Amino acid sequence: MKIAIPTETQAGESRVAASPDSVKAYVKKGVEVVIESGAGKGASISDEAFAAAGAKIVKDGFGDPDIVLTIRRPSAKLLASLKPGTILAGGLEPYGDRAGLDAIAKAGITAFAMELMPRITRAQSMDILSSQANLAGYKAVIDGAYHFTRAFPMMMTAAGTVPAAKVFIMGVGVAGLQAIATARRLGAIVSATDVRKATEEQVKSLGAKFVFADIGDAATAGGYAKELSAEDKAKQSALVAEHVKTQDIVITTALIPGRPAPVLITQEMVESMKPGSVIIDLAVERGGNCPLSKPDEIVEHKGVRIVGTLNLAGKLAGNASPLFAKNLANFLDLMVGKDGSLKIDFDDDCINGTLIARDGALVHPIFQVTK
Ligand code: NAI
Repeated sequence: MKIAIPTETQAGESRVAASPDSVKAYVKKGVEVVIESGAGKGASISDEAFAAAGAKIVKDGFGDPDIVLTIRRPSAKLLASLKPGTILAGGLEPYGDRAGLDAIAKAGITAFAMELMPRITRAQSMDILSSQANLAGYKAVIDGAYHFTRAFPMMMTAAGTVPAAKVFIMGVGVAGLQAIATARRLGAIVSATDVRKATEEQVKSLGAKFVFADIGDAATAGGYAKELSAEDKAKQSALVAEHVKTQDIVITTALIPGRPAPVLITQEMVESMKPGSVIIDLAVERGGNCPLSKPDEIVEHKGVRIVGTLNLAGKLAGNASPLFAKNLANFLDLMVGKDGSLKIDFDDDCINGTLIARDGALVHPIFQVTK
């Protein structure tokens, strides 16, 4: 049994799908681990550290791996080198461009998109969305503080009082909760909104104010949000418009699986904010919660700075990689036994829920055309 870890090839991707700890766990099971030289560089993990954990470092090709672990979809070159039946697990962007997914299926790969991990208690330790969003929420606040021309905490000095910054978090999932906690630690006055009513208690328990329009609960059974009705959207928008005027930093994290990110901060709302205010749009990868945000750009609009940094978790690759690697190792525990033997139970919820390609076809229900 051989597991291969390539260097990620997508622009700006600094994470790696293994850590010395995950390598040790695989090696303990008698599994061979081959890692491309330099794969850990962006996460400050040297070839030597991987080798010391028991991995073999390779420069040109992995031989015939049985399992390939990645942060993102593999390159076309790597895909072409894999034998049919190879297992691929990683962040495969199942809602992303279809041609790339078709290529994975056509190569005969058995592919698992970790983003589709079901939201059940047992799956928490395998949930890459949670482990990465948590770091992204923290980094969003740090970046907000960096771009803000004022301070976060209130300071009383002989020369006058510095008021505390007002931070508004939109979308209180994993990233949003961490953003609230981080902004509070920095001394800001924090408020937050979501469309799932269950978040009210979570927001309050972190010491922030909950801002909620008089709308129905938009939570789904899977723990995610669904799109609002036109009427509820209008109610939410009116409330947000009033609140945003008074805020210094707005961090938007709102996502709906498989859909473009909902627009929450319109151009008009941006123009109502004070000069020097900052918007950090974490949803920019999926179109953005603010129509003015641009991927990997800082847009200045009438004195308001709108930051659309992509892959915020990747900016903390030194933490993001070991957590991602641990999620993958926990997932592989479901199919690789203690003696290193492979046995896949396709009826297991976590395996079945993430399986996107098998025997040459895309198999997940998200690919079924609905009429
Ligand atoms: P997400 O990344 O899909 O969305 C971020 C947040 O945006 C969500 O809280 C969503 O309700 C909110 N949102 C969507 N549309 C909005 C709108 N129009 N206005 C304001 N907010 C909007 O969500 P995430 O962070 O992946 O997780 C959502 C929840 O799932 C978590 O809070 C948690 O309760 C649950 N969860 C369960 C897990 C498990 O049991 N294994 C693992 C991870 C999360």
